[in-house]
Amino acid sequence: MTRVPVLAANWKMFKTTHETLAYMRELGVLVKTLDGGEVEVVVAPPFPSLVTAAEAARNTGVGVAAQNVYFEREGAFTGEVSAAMIKEAGAGYVIVGHSERRRLFGDTDQAVSRKLRAAISAELVPIACIGETLEEREAGKTDDVLDRQIRDGFAGLAPAEVAALIVAYEPVWAIGTGKNATPAEAADAHHHIRTRLGEWFGRETADQCRILYGGSVKPDNVAALTALPDVDGALVGGASLDVASFFKIVTGGLAARPK
Ligand code: 13P
Repeated sequence: MTRVPVLAANWKMFKTTHETLAYMRELGVLVKTLDGGEVEVVVAPPFPSLVTAAEAARNTGVGVAAQNVYFEREGAFTGEVSAAMIKEAGAGYVIVGHSERRRLFGDTDQAVSRKLRAAISAELVPIACIGETLEEREAGKTDDVLDRQIRDGFAGLAPAEVAALIVAYEPVWAIGTGKNATPAEAADAHHHIRTRLGEWFGRETADQCRILYGGSVKPDNVAALTALPDVDGALVGGASLDVASFFKIVTGGLAARPK
């Protein structure tokens, strides 16, 4: 089973619309130089820059993601953004359940489940984030936490819907800390996630679903992670803010993929 790798930039709350335009133009030129081999390069800017990013990305092969979505279609929900609005802005993907959303803004597994269903209904590809805290890892609960996040977060999804979404394994202790998971730790977690997807949604679903690693991915550590058979790419925060650094991650990540 060959899965198309995904290298995604999560800018978090960084970059204005002007900065977005400059970055996207530069990235578009760089991505055109990639020869052969399929890849999805995705950028997730803040909401106000989605339209600008999507327009700049047209015909470059770069995809655009929102960083969050609300699950209702419309209504009196001040400050929230629906999946249909994101789709019409020109994005093709949306990040759901990022640990910063869970920790700082109270997103529960139940909210994640509703957001995933809203995204899928609007024909957005969700990038569903899961991962354990340091406390949970040290207590030996990593697999239990991942199981709960998959079971409750993916509740009610059909196998084909799970096959088409992208999972991002982001250990919370590795995010923004400069301390990435070792290849052995990432291999274990990704293998566990794929095994569970197989048990709960079928072998074919598990074989098709892309699972990205996220947490302090940098140009110099991406290869060791994407070389792992169950790691299908990376979700990059801080090191994606500089376009040259992100493109190095794209090329380094792709070169290391098992053939
Ligand atoms: P860093 O790459 O800055 O650790 O962030 C990872 C992340 O949260 C991507 O979604």
